[in-house]
Amino acid sequence: VPVTVYPTQEEASIQVAQRIASLIRGKQAKGEQAVLGLATGATPVKVYKELVRLHKEEGLSFSNVVTFNLDEYYPMQPTAEQSYVVFMNRNLFDHIDIPKVNINIPDGTLAPEDVQAFCMAYEQKISSLGGLDIQILGIGRTGHIGFNEPGSAPNSGTRLVTLDDLTRRDASRDFGGKENVPTKAITMGVGTIFKAKEIVLMAWNEKKAEIVKKAVEGEISSDIPATYLQMSDNVEFVLDQDAASALT
Ligand code: F6R
Repeated sequence: VPVTVYPTQEEASIQVAQRIASLIRGKQAKGEQAVLGLATGATPVKVYKELVRLHKEEGLSFSNVVTFNLDEYYPMQPTAEQSYVVFMNRNLFDHIDIPKVNINIPDGTLAPEDVQAFCMAYEQKISSLGGLDIQILGIGRTGHIGFNEPGSAPNSGTRLVTLDDLTRRDASRDFGGKENVPTKAITMGVGTIFKAKEIVLMAWNEKKAEIVKKAVEGEISSDIPATYLQMSDNVEFVLDQDAASALT
């Protein structure tokens, strides 16, 4: 698996943002849409910050961009502080010129009986646009990508999943206690992610060093879904020095 290590998270994030910006500009030149797969959490925050800067200071337009977020808690109101809708608006969408209709985030308000049809339609919509041009990922300490927790199948699609206990513990600060973290989420599947033309997994800090080592060097196993990325020939791990510190 190709791994690129940068001295700092800031430098790495700027590189990833540049890559997304070139993709968008390249598509613009051809009169086409760029289809981006986006992640939430702490990891991509500086990428979004740089994309906002490129929009405000360097005229990068998102008018031809369509986005699909990886996941959303379930149940979750889009107005809730912890929702990924609020996260994306604050960190990116409120500050750029993307048409609102081009934004797709799994719907945390669905009735249980409507979830499956929604997930099928989400997959369908991605395919109908020609697939994701790039998917950016973080990695959870369980080895999840999106919310594909241990046990997820390599060909899994968008679906309702149960969050791992460690994932809920890691989210407890945002929710003021683990008991308030939803037990479920809607996530793109490993198979959905795999169909992206390019996949960039980012990880920063010492905290991620151990799981990054397992993801990059460990045996491919459903115990650590991120190891599936070793089977992709269009993936790159972008790390800071601390997250790369356990690699041999
Ligand atoms: C977020 C997502 C998750 C996170 C992962 C790391 O949309 O799908 O897989 O990328 O949990 O979270 P952070 O970046 O907060 O360490």
